[in-house]
Amino acid sequence: MAYTTSSGDAVRHFDDAISSWLGFHRDTGDHLKLALQADPDFLMGHVARGCFMKLFAIRALDERIGAEITAARKSALEGGATQRERDHIAALTAWHEEDWQGALELWEKILLEHPLDVLALKLANRGYFYLGDSRNIRDSIARVLYAWNEDTPGHGFVLGMYAFGLEECGDFANAEAVGHRAVAINPADVWAIHAVTHVLEMQGRHREGTDWLKTSEKIWTNCNNFANHLWWHGALLLMDLERYHAVLDGYDNRIRAEQTDDYLDIANAASLLWRLEETGVDVGGRWVELADKAEAHARDHKLAFADAHYMMALAADGRVDAAEAMIESMAAHAAASEGMAATIYGEIGTPLCAALLAYSCGDFERTVELLQPLRYDLRYVGGSVAQQDVFHRLLVSAAVRAGRLDIARSMMSERSADRPSSVWNWRTYARVLATLDDESGAVAAWRKARDLVAGLTL
Ligand SMILES: [Fe+2]
Repeated sequence: MAYTTSSGDAVRHFDDAISSWLGFHRDTGDHLKLALQADPDFLMGHVARGCFMKLFAIRALDERIGAEITAARKSALEGGATQRERDHIAALTAWHEEDWQGALELWEKILLEHPLDVLALKLANRGYFYLGDSRNIRDSIARVLYAWNEDTPGHGFVLGMYAFGLEECGDFANAEAVGHRAVAINPADVWAIHAVTHVLEMQGRHREGTDWLKTSEKIWTNCNNFANHLWWHGALLLMDLERYHAVLDGYDNRIRAEQTDDYLDIANAASLLWRLEETGVDVGGRWVELADKAEAHARDHKLAFADAHYMMALAADGRVDAAEAMIESMAAHAAASEGMAATIYGEIGTPLCAALLAYSCGDFERTVELLQPLRYDLRYVGGSVAQQDVFHRLLVSAAVRAGRLDIARSMMSERSADRPSSVWNWRTYARVLATLDDESGAVAAWRKARDLVAGLTL
């Protein structure tokens, strides 16, 4: 890549920062700092710093992101810039204004001419992830594969991203093969390890999933806080085997050992506690610190995905006033904004949060009323299929508790066909059928759950 700077050191440190970011290392910011020390006017250094701050998805960083955009523009004005660099500034500016679509169009424009621009590639990939656009999570990578080969540095990272996109589109066989190829190229590729883990989770291959995480643990456990997400995946595998003590142990000693207010950390934690409580496990006072942190970010409105998890914490901890205020604020944010992200906030994020609150307040009928029409649009709140599943389970649980067993039965019929290796699916299906006096159906479903647990006991 060509950069507008006379400092070779700045470019070298910048490349190190990008490699560190792709590898989920902890020193991304350190490398970037060195790049900007070598050349304080380094345009792409300012762009990258703005983008990395933007990825934290918190309102408190808005001013600093704006300052990076100003610095990058000043560099372009005084030192010149390539068209690619100008497009990067414009993309960050659009993103800063919450115009995801505008940012994505610019990153895609860059990639048409510069398919090796891995910063644009990864940012576009994250954009599609948070707009729930599975097809483009996969195809944004597929569109540049022609330019990459085994001799291109970073090829493994690109395959890792492609593997995840294949998995999100349900192409599990190809996802697994490509993911393993990426790990073979670079055994330290945490994202590729994660992509294969998703495949094993979606296919209910609990033992393999646990083994896969264990054998690669030395690598991913030393990465940045993304390690918490891999611990979360490990907990999901254990949870389906109904090993709740082990899940709680993992929660306390791994997933939430460090009680940060990073939205991904909060999402991992809230999603797990919610599933545990839904299953009837007492999680004690664990919601309190999560709700404290969620309340502090309740008006950030940077990602509907993050807001839904903040809402889980507020609702589960019984902070009804704070939760209602957050829902009002989300609706106001949606009304005052434009573009796809605002539409998602207004039409999906807000009713989803209202459904979470209604459920926690015991208004199960209302939860069903809010969620049933949204079922197939829930993916637009962003996140992976595995992460979104908690919202689909919410509808099932609400339908059961509201006495809407017709809806619960149809959903469980669908879910058990889609994921026949899920113990939760068969266990819940058995309960629904038993309540409907379908004794033989309930026994058959219960046996499937029992056999899965017995066959998969670790
Ligand atoms: Fe994941």
